[in-house]
Amino acid sequence: MKLFDVYPLNDITIDHGQGSYVWDDQGQQYLDLYGGHAVISIGHTHPHYVKRVETQLHKLGFYSNSIKIPLQVELAELLGKVSGKEDYQLFLCNSGAEANENALKLASFYNNRKKIVAFKKAFHGRTSLAVAVTDNKNYQAPVNENNQVVFLPFNDEQALQDYFDQCGQEISSVIVEGIQGVGGIHVASDGFLQCIRRLCTKYDAIFIADSVQCGYGRSGKFYSHDHAGVAADIYSMAKGMGNGFPIAGISIAPKLHPKFFMLGTTFGGNHLACAAGLAVLEIIQKDQLMQQAAELGNYLINALKELPNIVEIRGRGLMIGIELPESLSEVKKNLLFKHKIFTGEAKPNVIRLLPALNITKVEADIFLTALKSELVG
Ligand SMILES: Cc1ncc(COP(=O)(O)O)c(C=O)c1O
Repeated sequence: MKLFDVYPLNDITIDHGQGSYVWDDQGQQYLDLYGGHAVISIGHTHPHYVKRVETQLHKLGFYSNSIKIPLQVELAELLGKVSGKEDYQLFLCNSGAEANENALKLASFYNNRKKIVAFKKAFHGRTSLAVAVTDNKNYQAPVNENNQVVFLPFNDEQALQDYFDQCGQEISSVIVEGIQGVGGIHVASDGFLQCIRRLCTKYDAIFIADSVQCGYGRSGKFYSHDHAGVAADIYSMAKGMGNGFPIAGISIAPKLHPKFFMLGTTFGGNHLACAAGLAVLEIIQKDQLMQQAAELGNYLINALKELPNIVEIRGRGLMIGIELPESLSEVKKNLLFKHKIFTGEAKPNVIRLLPALNITKVEADIFLTALKSELVG
């Protein structure tokens, strides 16, 4: 059998990793500022993480959600504490798309409405509702077309106000990334997020904060929406949550009440996933990684401002987009193959930095030196 060929691949086989470094099968070392797409939050093979997952694996890897799983309760308590949302409720699942799928569904259960507001350039995942609120026709099959979804311009308070004026009573939810990732690192303005909060409250619509990529401390606060001082009704999260172990979840405001079987999953919240999730939060808390992300992010952004030939630098904390001119479209490839540094990308010509939250200044400087050499040619 062959693999179903859906990804354009770099000709590199990563064999092992430690901290912010990975090594290929030839023994070549790479600095990882991509974090396997924002997934590696506490560094590759972090000793505490390895130990907690390994210990759990020796005890029990999985049992179904038909029995009590104290690790889930422990995870919910710690997540509530670290995220500052102790009165919220946690539903665990396996991926970012699934988290958004459940969030959108729960909103509709809550207010018995169907319309969803999403934004231009949004990415929320590949499953049916998640892809329906994703602004990219290439990802949608005909069966995913959904005439209940409207895409409004991002960061446009007036357009949002006008749409709510027109049909606010029919809107079930508004879903928004605090920082658009796939869309090219665009930060939602504080005013825009406050406007979403105000209108959702007024019309009893549900504010869904997609924190799959921008959440879990990456922006320097637990949820990037926190920078605007607003509380969403549902936060979806995934990537950084398990440092590579598939675990995702939604954090749900107290006003949304559960009913048996309204949501469910076989694998979500299994013993191993919870052990991985707990290890990540314990390290975020113990090593003050949110503060670290804020500090290193500021350091990188300020240093990047000194470099020539950059069109724009966007982002917050350790979610940074560096837009380059068309003439420098080879830079990302050169960083990887010449300088042995992994970065992410977004169209049209944006380098995305999504490193582990405990990346050091020394590692940041290695990147800055390499980038500078490419920009000055
Ligand atoms: C903001 C956002 N939401 C949702 C998803 C989907 O997550 P997953 O690939 O785990 O389904 C992604 C993935 O890149 C994302 O960036």
